[in-house]
Amino acid sequence: MGSEKVIDEKNQGQALLTEEKKGNSKKLYIESYGCAMNLNDSEIVASILSEQGYNTTHLIEEADLVLVNTCSIREKAEQTVRKRLEKYNAVKKINPKMKVGVLGCMAERLKAKFLEEEKIVDLVVGPDAYRDLPNLLEEVQSGRDAVNVILSKEETYGDVSPVRLNSNGVSAFVSITRGCDNMCTFCVVPFTRGRERSREPKSILEEIKQLSEQNYKEVTLLGQNVDSYLWYGGGLKKDFKKASEIAQTTAVGFAELLDMVADAFPKIRIRFSTSNPQDMNLNVIHTMAKHENICNYVHLPVQSGSTSVLKRMNRQHTREEYIELIDNIKKIIPDCSLSQDMMTGFCGETEEEHQETLSLLEYVKYDYGFMFAYSERPGTPAAKNMEDDIPLAVKKRRLAEIILVQQKHSLYHLEQFVGKTVEILIEGSSKKSDAHWKGRNSQNAVAVFPKGDEQIGDFVNVYIEDCTSATLLGKRV
Ligand code: SAH
Ligand code: F3S
Repeated sequence: MGSEKVIDEKNQGQALLTEEKKGNSKKLYIESYGCAMNLNDSEIVASILSEQGYNTTHLIEEADLVLVNTCSIREKAEQTVRKRLEKYNAVKKINPKMKVGVLGCMAERLKAKFLEEEKIVDLVVGPDAYRDLPNLLEEVQSGRDAVNVILSKEETYGDVSPVRLNSNGVSAFVSITRGCDNMCTFCVVPFTRGRERSREPKSILEEIKQLSEQNYKEVTLLGQNVDSYLWYGGGLKKDFKKASEIAQTTAVGFAELLDMVADAFPKIRIRFSTSNPQDMNLNVIHTMAKHENICNYVHLPVQSGSTSVLKRMNRQHTREEYIELIDNIKKIIPDCSLSQDMMTGFCGETEEEHQETLSLLEYVKYDYGFMFAYSERPGTPAAKNMEDDIPLAVKKRRLAEIILVQQKHSLYHLEQFVGKTVEILIEGSSKKSDAHWKGRNSQNAVAVFPKGDEQIGDFVNVYIEDCTSATLLGKRV
């Protein structure tokens, strides 16, 4: 299984820290759960609150304000957050002045219910309302609960410079779209993050320029569905058809944006996530092939290898169309690595349909995979119209089967690097040994090698001598 997507799983729920701003006296403790988008949103929140006199702390006991940026994607993600709220509650008994706020997808999904259910919560703020935090905090200070869960048509936080949290100083996330219009029947995201909108190219380029001036070497362009990026002067993706002719003809799509970013920053490595099979087109692949500095890695969630399941999921493509896309990627960029998201036990999934997922895995042989058992989410089309009828034991057995196949392929791909020299961007010390560097190659494979006179942020050539199930082992050449 892939150990890393665009987010380090170990960052989940860690206290997030940034440099102190002089003159700030209040203390913010902030944790983030879920996707890279959420982590990037926490950086936007920290930036807004830094202007309000808050520095971050890793000690919850000394915090004036505790914020948790939450995830609703599976039931387990919500349970984790509820447990954290119990912990905050215990701390609040010692420090009654401390305020607690819930941000992100759970805030959006549960809204004011949070204030009733979880008595310790003072503040509930949805993903499009972070600009309102200063006002909401004033409300809270004067003893009232504060809620803003309004979803926006325009908000992209394009002009807010995120302060980087727990950063390695080398790689950073840059959001390019918000929300999702796809309405996959199992998915809560369209309800918690609203309609899809894109950020102005100018502000994206400006943010990457700042990052490059601060010596960052890698950016990951982020969105729930990056291939659907479309800038036509602002507004929702779904309103594009209503835009003026000139706005339509001068619109910028994802392939053009990628091209602009790659041209403007030849020394920066560019990644992007997440791609959606229905929206990814060959222009994007050709743009990747054209630019040395766009990494040869595509995360392409598929969820199932069966056309009938894909149909029930409201994914807008068949198994055959997906395979055609994969074949094209492999043809245009032969050394491109690929990863998937896969879900087992969706409503009505038969044993034959499950076998089709296994056979798709065997066909594509992904480098990495992120696999989940279906978890019904309240309010989604699947929850309303379909029966969650696959017993948990069956979901888990199928999940174990696909994980086993994926592990085999992940190892196979790493083994292909043994005996070769790869270019690694050094991200920091290896977790296991301070005498070793850790970094990744273009295909997102993690490599570890003995330290010499290199520094964090250097690109170095490493000869791969061996590998474990998740890591390449080598030496610098
Ligand atoms: N386009 C998004 C997808 C977000 S959700 C992106 O940026 O990655 C990430 C993954 O979680 C999905 O691809 C899917 O495999 C899984 N997922 C989503 N809803 C789920 C549910 N109800 N139960 C289990 N897994 C789910
Ligand atoms: Fe969810 Fe499908 Fe969008 S998985 S985030 S509705 S592409």
